This record gives sequence, C-alpha cells and structure tokens, in this order.
Amino acid sequence: MSGERARILVVDDEKVIRDSCTRILTTEGHIVKSAEDGNIGLEVFREFHPDIVLVDLKMPGKSGMDILEEIEGSDPNVVKIVITGYATVSSAVDAMQRGAYDFIPKPFTPEEISLIVARGLERRRLFLESEALRVEQERIRRNMISLVSHELRAPLAATVQYLEVILGGMAGKISSEAKEMIDRCNIRIKELLELLSRWLNLATFDPDKMAEHFQDISLSNIATESIELLKPLAEEKKISLILEKPDDLPPIKGSKVSLGEIFNNVISNAIKYNKAGGWAKVKLYERDEEVWVEISDNGSGISEEHLQRIFDEFYRVDGRRNAPVKGSGLGLSIVKRLVEAHGGMIDAKSRFGEGTTFRISFPKFFQRQKEG
Ligand SMILES: Nc1ncnc2c1ncn2[C@@H]1O[C@H](COP(=O)(O)OP(=O)(O)OP(=O)(O)O)[C@@H](O)[C@H]1O
Ligand SMILES: [Mg+2]
Repeated sequence: MSGERARILVVDDEKVIRDSCTRILTTEGHIVKSAEDGNIGLEVFREFHPDIVLVDLKMPGKSGMDILEEIEGSDPNVVKIVITGYATVSSAVDAMQRGAYDFIPKPFTPEEISLIVARGLERRRLFLESEALRVEQERIRRNMISLVSHELRAPLAATVQYLEVILGGMAGKISSEAKEMIDRCNIRIKELLELLSRWLNLATFDPDKMAEHFQDISLSNIATESIELLKPLAEEKKISLILEKPDDLPPIKGSKVSLGEIFNNVISNAIKYNKAGGWAKVKLYERDEEVWVEISDNGSGISEEHLQRIFDEFYRVDGRRNAPVKGSGLGLSIVKRLVEAHGGMIDAKSRFGEGTTFRISFPKFFQRQKEG
C-alpha cells in the first residue's frame, strides 16, 4: 500500500458487480483486479498480494466463506470485505467470525462502496503499522540479546576471573585494603552477571520447549518447599509465613523448577516489601477446572498507578539506585511469563499501606497448543 493507492481484489460471479467495483475503485486511484470465481480468486490473491479483498458470499463452486477462511489462514492482515446479496445478520456474523472486517449488501451505490473501502484501507494501514512496530521490537530484542550475551557478559566473566586470580594471591601480594576493594568489585560484578543471566533467560524463554517436559506436579509440595527455602529470609525480617491448603489438592501439569520459581519470587516479594511483625500467607484451593494460589501479605501495598506496571520488565515502585529494598524489577515479569506458559493467569490487588494479594490460577489439564 503506497499512500492511499491500494491493491484491491474483487471476487464475484456477477460481471456487473466486478465491472462497477473496478470502475469506481480505479477512478479513485486504486489498482484493481477481479476474478469470477473462488478458485481463480485465490490464484490471483497469491500473485497480486492485495491490501483488500471484496468477496461475494454466494457464488457457484468455491464459496465466499471458504475463500475468506483461506485468505485469513495465509495472511490475516489482508482486509476482507464481504459482498452479500442476502444481507442476513447470521451470514454477516458468520463471515465476521471467519475474519471478515465488514460487509456490504447488494445492490450498493458508488458512495457506499467507496466509503466501505476507505474504512477498510484505514484498517489495513493500522495493521501494517502495528506489524512494522512488532518487527522493529523484535529486531531491538534480538540486538539486545546479542549485546548482552556477547558484548557484556563475556568481558564481565573474564574480569571476574582476573579478580579471582588477584584475590587468590596468584598475581603477587596485595594489601588488605586492596583485597577488600577487589572483593567488593567482584561481588558487584557477579550480581550484574546474575542480572544479565536472568534477563537473558527471560528474553530467550521458549514456552513450547518448557511444555515438552511438563509432568504432574503437586502445588502443595512446591508451596511447602518454597516456604522452607524462604524461612531464613522471613525470620531475619520477623515475618511469619502461613500456608493454608486442603489435603486433597489435585496436581497440575507443569515444570517443577518453573513453578518453584513462581512461588519463590512472589513469596519473597511478600517478605521483602513488608515490615517487622508482618505476615505472608499462601493459600491453595481448587475451583472447577483450576487450582488457585493466593499469596497475600500485610506489607507496604502498591498504589494504583504503580500496580498496573509491576509485571513490566525492570519496573520497581521505588526505582532509586539506593532504594532500601534491593531488586532488579525482573521477578514479576518472569513470574508472569512462567504462569502463562502453564496456561494460567496472574493478577494483583493491593491497597497502599495495607497489603497486597497475588492471585494465580492454573488449569488442571493444560495442553499447550503450538503457535504458528
Ligand atoms: N508483595 C508486594 N508488596 C509491595 N510491593 C510489591 C510486592 N511485590 C512486588 N512489589 C513491587 O513491585 C516491584 C516489582 O517486583 P519484582 O518482583 O518484579 O521486582 P523486584 O522485587 O524489585 O526485583 P527482583 O524480584 O527481580 O529481585 C517491586 O520493586 C515492588 O516495588
Ligand atoms: Mg521480586
């Protein structure tokens, strides 16, 4: 599509309709091709790469609905408009469900067809813009991945090795002051390396691959293990950890490691963003076809404006470098990806100053549908 000059394909068995569409739309500066039946229409479609296709629903041979479906399957971003002699609501709805954008009943005036095509073109422009944006985002993401893994991680890892050689005394004697400073450098660089690995894992995460290793998992066990792991942190911050679960919670399909990561991240937040004497509670229950996890706390809470963004990569409510509670802002974005890879959903409710509740649901019988 260049400027407002579009490529338009008209598929209709009635010659007068093909001719009148061609005349009206060519006059407006568009490039128009037409076909008298479905098979020819699809052939032209493949070679012509139209922006818009106008399809008659009722034709002998291949039906308009079949054509819609095939076009939708090969390029959903092509705008499809249905021409219908019997403008019943049900046939129009049916066509919309198969990807049609709009419909025009026969007979129509030149103004009507112009208007509907103009609307379709606007739609096509938005499709193309969002597609271009998606491609650009993907390009940036790939560049970031290669920058992080090669240009950043490799030299940092090499630096750590040198520092360890120096700290080990293999490069000669160093003063205790120097040793202390190099030690601190070493720790900081290792933290940075850890952050880069977490981000890389997130950016290159492949849900299909993870789903290949799904097995029956008891969330009761995962919750118990996670609480056990975080007990020292909770004790240090004087937070009590509570687990509420039925004895007969059914298993879900999932990855043990990833489910553990979900619980660890959310429970550690409930401890980190809390005050001495506070509590963090994990509640598990079954409802219909799902197992639900509620992780709540009576900690700092999150105000509405921040709450919408906590699942964004690197987002922290207190984003200052010297924020009292340390973190990278990656935890919840990782959690969200992992929950979704299990076919689940996560949301958060919070009241500033009172506490926060994360609710996660997992389907009991999840079968991943491969995309594309
Ligand atoms: N239970 C909670 N109570 C209050 N604030 C929370 C809670 N959980 C998350 N937050 C807020 O959401 C932000 C994002 O959380 P997230 O777990 O993604 O990152 P983080 O904890 O800052 O770092 P990381 O988990 O990567 O170490 C946190 O910085 C915090 O401000
Ligand atoms: Mg966190």
